[in-house]
Amino acid sequence: MVAVVHTPVLGEEVVQYLRVIPGGRYIDCTLGSGGHALSILRRSSPGGQLLGIDADPEAIELARAALPGGVTLVNANFAQLEIIASIHDFKPVDGILFDLGLSSMQLSESGRGFSFSHDAPLDMRFSPDQKLTAADIVNTYSESDLARLLFQYGEEPSSRRIARLIVRRRPIQTTQQLANLVREAVARRLGRIHPATRTFQALRIAVNQELDNLSAALRQTVGLLRTGGRLVVISYHSLEDRPVKQFLAQESRGCLCPPGRVVCVCGHSPTLKLITKKVVRPSEAEIARNPRGRSARLRAAERI
Ligand SMILES: C[S@@+](CC[C@H](N)C(=O)[O-])C[C@H]1O[C@@H](n2cnc3c(N)ncnc32)[C@H](O)[C@@H]1O
Repeated sequence: MVAVVHTPVLGEEVVQYLRVIPGGRYIDCTLGSGGHALSILRRSSPGGQLLGIDADPEAIELARAALPGGVTLVNANFAQLEIIASIHDFKPVDGILFDLGLSSMQLSESGRGFSFSHDAPLDMRFSPDQKLTAADIVNTYSESDLARLLFQYGEEPSSRRIARLIVRRRPIQTTQQLANLVREAVARRLGRIHPATRTFQALRIAVNQELDNLSAALRQTVGLLRTGGRLVVISYHSLEDRPVKQFLAQESRGCLCPPGRVVCVCGHSPTLKLITKKVVRPSEAEIARNPRGRSARLRAAERI
């Protein structure tokens, strides 16, 4: 595998919003090739500690080569965050980072079919331990289930038309076959983005159960952060950003009883304070340097 350096998106903002301090202890839940992790380690020196998690064993190997010894790297799903931190005696922590989605390496070098720009088998699994591949979904789901998946996870307006053509043309084994088919299905709606963008996004989210894993992991962060510790999340599309925004809004509110209740029965008190009232986006200069970051949005909160 050729090493592809992943330029960390919003690199300076991440260390700033995490409020990285010398000697601090941090969890990077999406290690990738270790770009953000390296910045965190530099800023937390001397004495900083880092636990890095990634579902992809290739990412762990890339990061191991890029990071100094002494860091704890774990090949696992961040949905297991609490248990991973406990096993490694890594709590409480001063900051937790999620930089969601996939890395440049996965997109262009992994040969796992994440991108329609390279012909590859339709796999899309972050981890080889996962059973379901994108090819399994495309070749076995019913037309209505495919249409629902494309609509739900890709917000694809032509979901039914694409699902119908998939069912008619299968088996479909490669990214090029699928991308050409989608182009044909939506021929009348060619816009700014490649017509297969939404279909590929939907399949990737479904294969990796990305939204369920994200919600599960977010719920575990509060119990791991020390008072004053920071949670920073970078997402790349609205489906990813929505659960983050909702989680932060809920945890920064007091009572969660339905409106109209005179007496609170939920007993909920805020656990987080919102640091970013509005999402933080990369500057034009950063986007010019690193186009991958153009849709990034960062949200941050502090444990209270
Ligand atoms: C955008 S990249 C992170 C890049 C990293 N911040 C850097 O600077 O190199 C996202 C990473 O998160 C990993 N990932 C996505 N979902 C995951 C999950 N549920 N559990 C663990 N890792 C996950 C992917 O495998 C990928 O390597």
